[in-house]
Amino acid sequence: MKTETLYIETYGCQMNEYDSDRIQNALGASITKNPKEANIVIVNTCAIREKADQKALSSLGRFKHLKAKNPELIVGVSGCVAQLYGEELIQKIPHLDFVLGPRAIPGLASLIKDIRETRSRPIETSFDVEEPFDILPYHQEGKPTAFVSIQQGCNKKCAYCIVPTVRGAEVNRPVNDIKAEAQYLIAKGVKEITLIGQTVNSWKLGKLKFGDLLRTIGEIDGLERIRFTTSYPRDITKKMVEAMAQIPKVCHHIHLPVQSGSDRVLKLMNRTYTRNWYIDSVKRLRDAMPDIAISSDMIVGFPGETEEDFEQTMSLVEEIEFDSFFSFKYSPRPGTVGEELWRSDERVKDLTARERLARLQNYQRGITLAKNMERVGKAEQVLVEEESRNDSSWLCGRTQHNRIVNFAGRKELIGKMVDVRITEGLANSLRGQYLN
Ligand code: 5AD
Repeated sequence: MKTETLYIETYGCQMNEYDSDRIQNALGASITKNPKEANIVIVNTCAIREKADQKALSSLGRFKHLKAKNPELIVGVSGCVAQLYGEELIQKIPHLDFVLGPRAIPGLASLIKDIRETRSRPIETSFDVEEPFDILPYHQEGKPTAFVSIQQGCNKKCAYCIVPTVRGAEVNRPVNDIKAEAQYLIAKGVKEITLIGQTVNSWKLGKLKFGDLLRTIGEIDGLERIRFTTSYPRDITKKMVEAMAQIPKVCHHIHLPVQSGSDRVLKLMNRTYTRNWYIDSVKRLRDAMPDIAISSDMIVGFPGETEEDFEQTMSLVEEIEFDSFFSFKYSPRPGTVGEELWRSDERVKDLTARERLARLQNYQRGITLAKNMERVGKAEQVLVEEESRNDSSWLCGRTQHNRIVNFAGRKELIGKMVDVRITEGLANSLRGQYLN
């Protein structure tokens, strides 16, 4: 069998990055950064907001000419947009050979074989997959960090969100498989593992809960850091907080999307917790780990959000003092409850939503910067990940609190845990000096 040369473009979340690496292994392919050299081109897409899904589709358009020149080239779309639009994509995009949903990766190799033999244009979007975790991701030699998926799909019913539609119901991965993948990665030199799942801390199997899983992974020799993302506020348990505080390898950082500071909007969003409940969860985390970094996601302009609701979001942000967060203007997604509300009179004017988003982001910029400046003068442990993007005599890594640190240093330090004295706090990162 000749080896495949794959060009793959990845949009969206960590799960998609992970899936792209699985796609590479499913095909036993070598990767090229030049689509002209590829015999398979795949766009692994994200559907979380309208902009993301348009971007993915326009990216597919770019391969039309390539396919015209080389009819043997196979062009496919995978990921959440593939799942969402399925058949429609095959009809609309004549140069598209296949559509592959996020659960269907294990069947990709035989799919490609069929395409070559029968010139078919398959649409593989069934959730009915026996072994959804089959096919491990490709791991790049020398990379000290890696993701390990512990969960696919999502059982929550947030009104704005397309994820349950495109990734199906929650399936939790058995402990032994998670452990085996972690051990395989550690044998390859990985120092830091991020457990990933849509609501990662909802993971449970039989009597085992997420806190137990953290303990099991925490016992693996050779592993230095454990991260996990994304956490769902309602599923924070005492066991989980204790495990985070007690296991030295678990980083003191949590990504805990709140989405809104208004109880009314949280209810409309079906987030199943209140503002006070969220504040209390943060307090529990901070009581157990006073240094914990807390990041979040926010949506502004959800249908029905009034000026007063938005003020509640602003006041929550003031009260919590997040280390950082991502914030988005609400984007209606097909078939969601939010979309129905958006079609009604409840829609927030686009300009209003933009103004709110700008105000929120502007305020948080100041908080994040102040928090970064507070680090100046302190020594931080940094896991060195790679050369800095702009200057190869600089290195880039992260602190356990997920702050990016750039400092001058030699390439040999990549993969090592080093001490760095912080010299400068910037808007999105820190600068420092390597301490021998
Ligand atoms: N519109 C805007 N933002 C959204 N998110 C999810 N769905 C939407 C949507 N329809 C945001 C949430 C989530 C993050 C990954 O994307 O804040 O936590």
